[in-house]
Amino acid sequence: MTNFRVRRALADTPAYRPGRPPAAVEGVTSYKLSSNENHLEPLAAVVEAVEGASGAPALYPDPAATELTAALADFHGVPVDHVVTSAGSSESLAALVGITLDAEKQVVYPWPSFEMYPQLSSFSGARQVAVPLTADGRHDLPAMAQAITGDTGLVLLCSPNNPTGAVLGQAEFDSFMSQVPEDLIVVLDEAYIEFADGSEAVSALRTADGHPDAPVDMAQALDTYSNLAVLRTFSKAHGLAGLRVGYTIAHPAIIHEMRKSIAPFSVGAAGQAAGLVSLALRDEVAVRAKSVGATRDDLAARLRGLGFDVPPSGGNFVWLSLGEHEAHAFAEACLARGLAVRDLGRGIRVTVGPQEAMDRLVEVASAFAQERSA
Ligand SMILES: Cc1ncc(COP(=O)(O)O)c(C=O)c1O
Repeated sequence: MTNFRVRRALADTPAYRPGRPPAAVEGVTSYKLSSNENHLEPLAAVVEAVEGASGAPALYPDPAATELTAALADFHGVPVDHVVTSAGSSESLAALVGITLDAEKQVVYPWPSFEMYPQLSSFSGARQVAVPLTADGRHDLPAMAQAITGDTGLVLLCSPNNPTGAVLGQAEFDSFMSQVPEDLIVVLDEAYIEFADGSEAVSALRTADGHPDAPVDMAQALDTYSNLAVLRTFSKAHGLAGLRVGYTIAHPAIIHEMRKSIAPFSVGAAGQAAGLVSLALRDEVAVRAKSVGATRDDLAARLRGLGFDVPPSGGNFVWLSLGEHEAHAFAEACLARGLAVRDLGRGIRVTVGPQEAMDRLVEVASAFAQERSA
């Protein structure tokens, strides 16, 4: 028996494709540059917190993640009822899809972007309107605004956008939001925002002075846009992907509905403890994110120097825009040298890794470019 009574929407729903692991290649260290993980050593205090919290595995963790939620609310300058934690930001995203979409609804998102957007949307049964990015990898916000109808149940924005790295600016964001009905929830997925503090990268939620290092004034943003739900995660800059800690900041009415979807105890005790310590060490986290950003910019410049089309990125990755055939060939060439990168059909996404991996990637790219022009 294989024909079980599952929902019809599942027939068209792809399963998530995780980043490929690197193959072992004799004589070289292999590197996984396909999942946008943080390659830096964990902070010692975070490791200690994880060890300290792992002593009572028989007990459920605090279901409300009380301390972490309070610390996050304090950090963002919002009351605690504006924050909900989740098993990575993926669970927050799934909850937002769950509270808004069904077969009667339509969802608008940019494409290419995070692969979970089509997956979760398809799972919900909603009609998907994937709005193509502009030629330079940015959200086409005017086209997204035009795609909104009375049936639209959810809008997804991703800044920095995975996989192109483009960051939304305040003015374009404000102009977009002014065209969105006030009762339509807009998700702003900021999984990589901590890497985006370069001169070009201004978060949609930075303070009005626009200084890239200024703290995010979330309270002000939510005051202006009560239909905005901001996703954040400890998986990327904080380097805690394995512990599954993410959260949403939004109006309490949205948070209240999300709590009906998010599983109880979804963030484990170790994740709660590590998140709390890492948040307290955010200055150190910011320094590390900056160094990842510097490596990213250096890699992008070297690849551009070889003739590749690499847009400015605010994430811990770079995007090489290639045709489908070339993307596949490039990914295979990387794999043969012990580097797993993400082949997304029309391009390659490379996660920032140790310098040795970046140098080897440039070698592969250089040989590829030579062959291209031969
Ligand atoms: C844009 C974006 N949002 C959200 C996530 C989810 O990350 P997590 O569930 O680990 O917080 C990812 C992970 O790669 C991502 O790229």
